[in-house]
Amino acid sequence: MFTDKNILIGLSGSQKLTKLIAKHLKTTPAKTLIKHFADGETMVKPEVPVRHKNVFIIQATSKPVNENIMELLIAIDAFRRASAKTINVIIPYYGYARQDRKTLGREPITSKLVADLIVKAGATRVCIVDVHADQIQGFFEIPVDTISASYMLVGSILKEKSKKNTVIVSPDYGGVKRARRISVEYNLPMAILDKRRPKPNVAEITNVLGDIKNKDCIILDDIIDTGGTIIAACNILKRKGARSIIVGASHGVFSNYASNKFQQAIKNKIIEHIFISNSIDNVYNLKIKNLKIVDISKFLAKIIQVYTLASSGSISKIYSKAKH
Ligand code: R5P
Repeated sequence: MFTDKNILIGLSGSQKLTKLIAKHLKTTPAKTLIKHFADGETMVKPEVPVRHKNVFIIQATSKPVNENIMELLIAIDAFRRASAKTINVIIPYYGYARQDRKTLGREPITSKLVADLIVKAGATRVCIVDVHADQIQGFFEIPVDTISASYMLVGSILKEKSKKNTVIVSPDYGGVKRARRISVEYNLPMAILDKRRPKPNVAEITNVLGDIKNKDCIILDDIIDTGGTIIAACNILKRKGARSIIVGASHGVFSNYASNKFQQAIKNKIIEHIFISNSIDNVYNLKIKNLKIVDISKFLAKIIQVYTLASSGSISKIYSKAKH
């Protein structure tokens, strides 16, 4: 039960998703003033008292990434200074997640920096959907739940497609754990693509590990950004004899005209369907044929409900129900 001891807030990056979550929680998002000054500064102020309340802030730190992060930090600061009891931050998409380690000398680890800022601002708990790398959990000095939309994506795909001839494909080594979890859950074989990045935002795939010939492939990724990875993956799968390809990705960032590439791949019958979650509000503006949006709001509402329980509650139980 989402009682009046709890407050739900949707910031600019997640207005649509928050409305859907609010419906499941049978509540209304609390009014929050988000003001932009002439000099570019932002101010966020709750328009209701929050003293001794559990606050649930929903904010995807997607484009405009820096604006959305700053807005989130200012909101957390406002709630902390207004004596909120707990500040629970639900991040449907965590920007900067891919800057999670130094791959070359002098590179920053920005996902750690962002985690430090969120904790320093005053968050008491964080929940992130399909964070790019699980080790980001350890970047936060507060409780973190990382949850995955992949089960819902694949569940929706398998409602439309028989499992019989299907292979789960990871487009790179980084995605192997995700693909393996799904292949075990649904008892499906798996293939791995050998992806390299000769420079940022350029993906090259040269090898396929696993049997994909005459198979129906489900490529599973966390993010579609420029689309380079998935398009390269589809091209090599087709060249090596895949029968059909469906793409499943948790976060539809779609930068740099990525939607045109997908539109073309669908037109050329390389991709059959694309399934993405609504972790980023902008996916509703995409104009791509055969794109299906999988709604994760009920799942997030259930997790929030567990957080509101004074006694025990289990995120794993919600998971097992969401899988099927
Ligand atoms: C990479 O490790 C990620 O899992 C995604 O594959 C990648 O970020 C997608 O980016 P793009 O669409 O620009 O290739």
